[in-house]
Amino acid sequence: MSGSSSSTSRFIGELQRTHRCGDLRASDIGKEVVLFGWVATRRDHGGCIFIDLRDRDGRTQIVFDPGFTPEAVAGGGKVVDAEVKAAHAIAEQARTEWVIGVRGVVRSRGGNVNAKMPTGEIEVGIVEAVVFNKAETPPFEINDDVDTREEVRLQYRYLDLRRPKLQRTLRVRHLINQTTRNYFSDNGFLELETPYMVKYTPGGARNFLVPSRMTPGSFYALAESPQLYKQLFMVAGFDRYFQIVKCFRDEDLRIDRQPEFTQIDVEMSFVAQNDIFKMMEGLVFGIWKAASGIDLKESYPTGRFPQLPFYESMRRFGNDKPDMRFALEHVDLTELTLEHKGGGIPFLGEIAAKFESGKLRRDLPGEIIKAICVPAKYEMSRAETDKLEDFVKSMGAKGLARAKVGADGAWTQSPLAKTITKEFREAINAACGAKEGDLLLFQFGRASVVQTVMANLRVHLGKKLKLIPEVGHGGTFNFLWVVDPPLFEHDEDTGKWAAAHHAFTRPHDSSVPLLETDPGKVLCYRYDLVLNGFEIGGGSIRLHDPEVQSRVFTALGIDEAEARKKFGFLLDALKHGAPPHGGVAIGMDRLAMLLSGAESLRDVIPFPKTQKGTDLLTEAPTPVTNDQLAELHVRVVAEAEAK
Ligand code: AMO
Repeated sequence: MSGSSSSTSRFIGELQRTHRCGDLRASDIGKEVVLFGWVATRRDHGGCIFIDLRDRDGRTQIVFDPGFTPEAVAGGGKVVDAEVKAAHAIAEQARTEWVIGVRGVVRSRGGNVNAKMPTGEIEVGIVEAVVFNKAETPPFEINDDVDTREEVRLQYRYLDLRRPKLQRTLRVRHLINQTTRNYFSDNGFLELETPYMVKYTPGGARNFLVPSRMTPGSFYALAESPQLYKQLFMVAGFDRYFQIVKCFRDEDLRIDRQPEFTQIDVEMSFVAQNDIFKMMEGLVFGIWKAASGIDLKESYPTGRFPQLPFYESMRRFGNDKPDMRFALEHVDLTELTLEHKGGGIPFLGEIAAKFESGKLRRDLPGEIIKAICVPAKYEMSRAETDKLEDFVKSMGAKGLARAKVGADGAWTQSPLAKTITKEFREAINAACGAKEGDLLLFQFGRASVVQTVMANLRVHLGKKLKLIPEVGHGGTFNFLWVVDPPLFEHDEDTGKWAAAHHAFTRPHDSSVPLLETDPGKVLCYRYDLVLNGFEIGGGSIRLHDPEVQSRVFTALGIDEAEARKKFGFLLDALKHGAPPHGGVAIGMDRLAMLLSGAESLRDVIPFPKTQKGTDLLTEAPTPVTNDQLAELHVRVVAEAEAK
């Protein structure tokens, strides 16, 4: 019965598909149509068999009625009684996920209109059918509501991808790609490619390495981004470059990280930061319009996204990718604590003493004290607050100091209440704007830990108190640029300065004199684009001036020989007429995830990797033979030996 090759070629050759399964409407009633698709559901009503036929554009109800003899089939098609009966026999056999072709006549559903389906006004009475292929019973129903373990879905990803939700998301990716290409092309950019197999350069993310057969013992790195090449395009005079490009990073995975991901990568010559912002804002507006129909002008009437200085972001939110859909901002109490010399709280007194003795410096991010004030209206119970403590401990905090504010400003439910001075308590209440019934949550100690814990606690509270949804955008898209970060990071362990991003970021002109005197204060033209608490893009204005470049290397403690070894070819190129230039890269998968409200990057990447970096569909990575390894001059060492 299935797919005799003559009936297959009749359908594909002679008849050809006239419509897709989401196309037909009441205005098509009476037309003869040919549809191809998969059996989504099948109901046998004793005699009449109803099938929902599915393709990537939707579903159509088709009806197999052995007595169906439409009086007139438009388009000159003929109805042969035997074919109608054969079609009915096919429908009797058909099972879900069989792939079939049908010819029939569109008719009204009369009183049985299904308002939930775009094609719900009509059905197609079938006069001829073919089975292109049978299918085994799928391991899960191809349905958006079905709750199947993700491992199984990934193993049968080609079935998972048949689900309408994933079909829609991949269409979103398509629209993002098309909009991006048109937008940049219209704005004078060239889409140029860069190599994936590149020279290993230290710094940045961990690279995947590819052994070279022809140069024994040497390795290529898989490009973590086209960064150096796009700068070379600028030196070569291409002026405006973009690429939708795969990047590879061997990092620990999170919901917003994949080892193989896609960037919308951009570089421009003769521009300042603001020119890049404008260009990218235009792109994002265009993508939102094309892929979701949303006009961001309604939220951003000027067409511009707001900008937030890095240090302000750290102070108010604890990180450089704040979710500004809700408040619950941090209050930095470090200065206040120093003023009050710890205010009667022993461990805060210890911190204050460290600053006083010069062990901690105020110009370095050593130890800090921060609070969040949860307003009384959220009525957090003691049990809920205890759970918050568990949460922060899971983030590496030692505990969660807290206080409930009473009518007269006194603190209850707090071990701090016993020793704190009245003045310090009042000063904290005032700094936090705390009123009766409010809950104060504190963290203190090593700055990097306090910032991370408090940033995560804020988002956790935002979700718990339903200020933002657990997953998805909830209809609000909050964009901002985080700008003016420091050029150098102070390494708490080595006490040395390190490039916060990469060594080719241009410092603010006003900061250049500080390179030698106060490197920690040097701000630079680096920026991140943030959406609802996720970093969706980042970039910088590059350092094209060799003189300032060498001063940056000196500040980093990199001598000329080392600089040459690491970045020789870029340094050479910058001496051959490099224009002022800068750029940015948008994480395309993250953009698709946030735009479509998906839960993780895996939901928007057609063939993603699991948390452990494996591909469950093909079972990559796999061991290879010793012969293959020998050819590559590589030997696998046992884990114990490697350590
Ligand atoms: P950066 O490293 O900030 O910049 O990367 C740019 C954007 O790429 C996305 N991204 C990721 N997405 C998914 N999985 C990952 N593992 C992953 N890593 C990064 C993020 C990030 O904002 N060459 C520079 C750009 C430049 O300076 O022009 C770069 O790659 O959304």
